Amino acid sequence: MIEFQGATKIYGKSDKAALDHLSLKIGDGCVYGFLGPNGAGKTTAIRLLTGALRATEGKILVNGIDVALEPVAAKRLIGFVPDSQEMYDKLTGWEYLNFMADIFGVSSEDRKRRGEKYLEVFEMTSAAGDRIASYSRGMKQKIASIGALIHNPPVWVLDEPMVGLDPRASFLLKEEMKRRAQEGATVFFSTHVLEVAEKLCDQVGIINHGRLVMEGRPEELTHRQGEESLEELFLELTETGAGKKAEDQ
Ligand SMILES: Nc1ncnc2c1ncn2[C@@H]1O[C@H](COP(=O)(O)OP(=O)(O)OP(=O)(O)O)[C@@H](O)[C@H]1O
Ligand SMILES: [Mg+2]
Repeated sequence: MIEFQGATKIYGKSDKAALDHLSLKIGDGCVYGFLGPNGAGKTTAIRLLTGALRATEGKILVNGIDVALEPVAAKRLIGFVPDSQEMYDKLTGWEYLNFMADIFGVSSEDRKRRGEKYLEVFEMTSAAGDRIASYSRGMKQKIASIGALIHNPPVWVLDEPMVGLDPRASFLLKEEMKRRAQEGATVFFSTHVLEVAEKLCDQVGIINHGRLVMEGRPEELTHRQGEESLEELFLELTETGAGKKAEDQ
């Protein structure tokens, strides 16, 4: 479970909150799509959740653990796939997985079993002995996803995970996201690909100018607002100035 409670982030001397009192509750077994235009605050929210940034105000809980008060315990519960893959180029795929497994104290049997399983799932078995420097962007994305699952985290967080993946890799990733949620994990990801969000997510949240402007089941949202698709709804809600209007009310 993930809970944002009024999470706010103001960078440096900025007079504007990049994330403005975000409150979300995402239960176990849920695939949650976090949508919003460029600069809306998605990565900021994710960086607060994963403990890379400190909230200026508010709280974030992972399975009830406050990420600011118990960062190590919270991080153990999270598998994180960042939006850019600046990886350990000198390592091979397997060395990287072992490195991640070492960080999380995964036993040698578990890392072998899970590593082999996910390399198979993401069709990376034959590349696992090669150096990451030789991987394509999509392959780096895949090995990062596998590395984030090596400790079998109950919470899986992915920032723009479909970027750079070909249709097949994207399909494999979506299947794995669904499977993990079915097994009871919480899957939280940001995306711009609205068709993906519409089909894959149990819940979506749309943010604009750091504020949550709408949340619910994709089909419910479009129905409620009388829109044809999530795309239309998204465009309407995130029109330039839409968040500002809400602020003035
Ligand atoms: N390190 C930083 N220092 C100052 N401002 C930042 C920093 N990182 C992000 N911002 C600002 O915070 C706001 C939210 O940025 P963020 O990266 O969270 O957006 P995003 O929703 O992830 O966008 P995108 O879809 O482009 O990835 C933007 O106005 C951005 O300029
Ligand atoms: Mg981002």
